[in-house]
Amino acid sequence: MTDRVAVLAGYGADAPDRVVTNLELESTLDTTDAWITSRTGIRERRWADPGTSTGDMAVRAGRMAMRRAGVTRVDRVVLATSTPDHSCPATAPWVAHQLGLGTVPAYDVAAVCSGFLYALAGAREAVLAGTSDTVLVIGADRFTSIVDPGDRGTAVIFGDGAGAVVIRAGASGEVGTLGDVVLGSDGSQSDHIMVRAGGARQPLTSSTPQRDRHFAMRGPEVFTAAVSRMTDAAATALDRSGWATGDCDWLVAHQANWRILAAVGRAIGIHEDRVVCDLDRFGNTSAASIPMALAHHAAGFRTGDRLVLAAFGGGTTWGATTLTWPGRTSRSATTGRTEVLSELTR
Ligand code: COA
Repeated sequence: MTDRVAVLAGYGADAPDRVVTNLELESTLDTTDAWITSRTGIRERRWADPGTSTGDMAVRAGRMAMRRAGVTRVDRVVLATSTPDHSCPATAPWVAHQLGLGTVPAYDVAAVCSGFLYALAGAREAVLAGTSDTVLVIGADRFTSIVDPGDRGTAVIFGDGAGAVVIRAGASGEVGTLGDVVLGSDGSQSDHIMVRAGGARQPLTSSTPQRDRHFAMRGPEVFTAAVSRMTDAAATALDRSGWATGDCDWLVAHQANWRILAAVGRAIGIHEDRVVCDLDRFGNTSAASIPMALAHHAAGFRTGDRLVLAAFGGGTTWGATTLTWPGRTSRSATTGRTEVLSELTR
């Protein structure tokens, strides 16, 4: 089938109830609400309680996305995370089991904050190749399990959460169509974002220093690379979709820092009002941030709106794609065809 495309069919998000404000962090860290707000745009974030894992949040977001898509089965589950429930095995099979999905293929993808776009690329390729008709793609991270709560450079930035989408096979021209996913990596910068110990290169021992057990980031270098990589990737994704700069209604980028988002928007000609932002309430939720932002802003999109998605993360890795916002769809029990009922969010 030459006109087979991958279409967004549903979305969902989950975040812990516990809200941690900048003011609360002032009491434990050498920081201020004014610094955090002005340097990052973040006002509060969510922290999972000790009993809540990445997988727990992934299950809730995945269930919501499937419900919204009107499906009870999928052919594949891809979970983007760099904070899996265990270092071995992957978390996705457990998530699939919790969702009652039987023995479907399920695997994790680790590309830190770009993970959702890496997972989405594989899901789209599986749909285009005809090896899957419906894929559940989840981005979930419990970054508080790796961030040092005493490191003001990272503790103020990251939050916990999960977001998910269902991708299904569709026909060319449908609203909801995903464009080519542009991906890239630069391993020469692998130490810019890293948990140094706990892997095969530096297994944990009783003498592992505290700083090597936690997430570490070279903030200013990451800032610069994030702006340039996301800008280039987004421009390439727009080009491959045949969309001119200015044709795009929304930028939905990894929620790293408002100054990064605004700079990428400026560079590709998207006004600040059209740069989707929920980092003020959720901080940087790593692989979860793009699907969470889609879910949180869904009521603001109209069917057919043109979105460009972009991410940058550890590795370093980056990616971008385009998407037209879908309508609410339903698979007819009699014809088996998917029909647009109304806008997805209404
Ligand atoms: N509160 C108060 N001061 C802080 C602080 C905090 N939470 N964190 C850092 N500072 C201080 C620094 O110590 C430094 O002080 P100095 O000038 O006395 O040395 C000063 O603020 C500037 O630090 P710097 O790291 O240059 O700040 P910045 O403006 O680059 O902002 C980040 C830091 C982390 C917010 C910013 O670099 C950033 O957002 N980077 C990208 C992060 C990202 O996108 N990560 C995810 C991608 S996957």
